Amino acid sequence: MADKLLEMKNISKSFPGVQALSEVDFNVDKGEVHALVGENGAGKSTLMKVLTGIHPDYEKGQIFYKGEEVRFKNPAEAQKAGLAIIHQELELIPELTVAENVFLGREPGRGWINRKKLKADTKKIFEELGIEININKKIKHLTIGKQQMVEIARAISQDAEIIAMDEPTSSLSQQEVKILFALIQDLKEEGIAVIYISHQLEEIFEICDRVTVLRDGYKVKEQAVADINRDEIVRQMVGRDVEDRFPDFKINDGKPIFQVKNLSVPDLITDVSFEVRKGEIFGLAGLMGAGRSEIARAIYGVYKNRSGDIYLEGKKLNIKSPGDAIDRGIYYLTENRKDEGLIPELSVGENMSLSILEQLTIVKSVISKRKEKNLVKEFISKLDIRTPGPWQLVKNLSGGNQQKVILSRVLSTNPKLIIMDEPTRGIDVGAKHEIYKLMEELAAEGVAIIFISSELPEILNLTSRVGVIYDGRLQSIIDGSEVTQEKIMNLATGGSS
Ligand SMILES: Nc1ncnc2c1ncn2[C@@H]1O[C@H](COP(=O)(O)OP(=O)(O)OP(=O)(O)O)[C@@H](O)[C@H]1O
Ligand SMILES: [Mg+2]
Repeated sequence: MADKLLEMKNISKSFPGVQALSEVDFNVDKGEVHALVGENGAGKSTLMKVLTGIHPDYEKGQIFYKGEEVRFKNPAEAQKAGLAIIHQELELIPELTVAENVFLGREPGRGWINRKKLKADTKKIFEELGIEININKKIKHLTIGKQQMVEIARAISQDAEIIAMDEPTSSLSQQEVKILFALIQDLKEEGIAVIYISHQLEEIFEICDRVTVLRDGYKVKEQAVADINRDEIVRQMVGRDVEDRFPDFKINDGKPIFQVKNLSVPDLITDVSFEVRKGEIFGLAGLMGAGRSEIARAIYGVYKNRSGDIYLEGKKLNIKSPGDAIDRGIYYLTENRKDEGLIPELSVGENMSLSILEQLTIVKSVISKRKEKNLVKEFISKLDIRTPGPWQLVKNLSGGNQQKVILSRVLSTNPKLIIMDEPTRGIDVGAKHEIYKLMEELAAEGVAIIFISSELPEILNLTSRVGVIYDGRLQSIIDGSEVTQEKIMNLATGGSS
């Protein structure tokens, strides 16, 4: 084809104990949006890292870019040649401002940094993108959605010819996703190619032209999006038919075990009251930024200026820090993996047993190595964590599998109430259902769950009641038997029930 911009041929890449890519072919035309899909650990990110010089040491294969063979030795070289990447795990520097991050490593000015130009250029980029952001703010003070927009702006500003987007929408609001999609459309028209990685298969049908499916490091198939449907893609990804429905959830009528009364945090949440029953999955719905995570954080003792009362099993709790909350049996699984304190340089097993260890020391028992080993093994198989073994370093796991390690850690603390904030983000179709099943099992064991999700089908199918948050307030609580997508959306956008 005349328009072939990129051709990756026969690419193999292995890590100790893992064949991440086996003779993979992948090609991209000028101006096309090419989806790359597959389960957690299939090799998507690795393929992009091979392409962009992060893994220059692939064992086999060739890369042709604009007709010439290339082998980028580092990311800077790839960038110079016109290849930009938006990383799955955001790689921004928290202590620097938005503007400093956008132009990191290529600041305007010779020898010194031209701050004025830096700011002006950054401002222009965001204006063009139609994104409202304070470019002087430090990254660490932004929501993850906004941080992701900064990553996107950084890639766009590089005048690239190919932009690889590794799960760019995982923490964007619907509005932000719209902005991104419009942007991709513009890029296309300019002849720029986009490689699009996502677990949201619906997105593939909305913006992609072709789709390449990877499974266990192999390329399964490449096809035009117009020629395939969602079920078929899933089958290619997983290699079998997937049970793509929610478990039947029995409405729970246990006793209230957890209550918040008049929970408020100035400027964030106002007068929120609700209760969760033993063994109930209680949904919290609302738009990005409505205050769902803030409610979770307030319960978790993150804010010093919180007012209102929290009760667990009828007792009023005085939670001043996350440590207090965990001690009482409340665990908040945040939406941000990086906050969860996975220690990248430790192994999967060590990361899992960290919290188990704490528990064991609390009860002053001797740590049984064998017991610990068995627990780790049990979690690896229960959550289907793709790792060559418990010894693998956590930093070497794929994004989705890191999420599962975090989950196993939560479970090992035997909590009474778990707040799960977007727990299926970045998780593949098959594994999502594992997590749903797990939630159901937990509920059956009597654990109360507050489930925050932006995916309405999840909320509708898994919860027995849904609280809808708008502008920091609890608008209404809808009973499972009466809940509909329309009702939630109406309340979430400020309407009344
Ligand atoms: N630096 C590394 N060292 C060792 N193993 C690695 C490394 N990077 C990736 N792997 C392994 O290679 C395989 C492919 O991982 P990759 O990150 O490419 O998956 P992915 O398709 O992007 O998955 P996800 O959807 O979860 O992001 C996995 O088994 C992963 O554990
Ligand atoms: Mg990945």
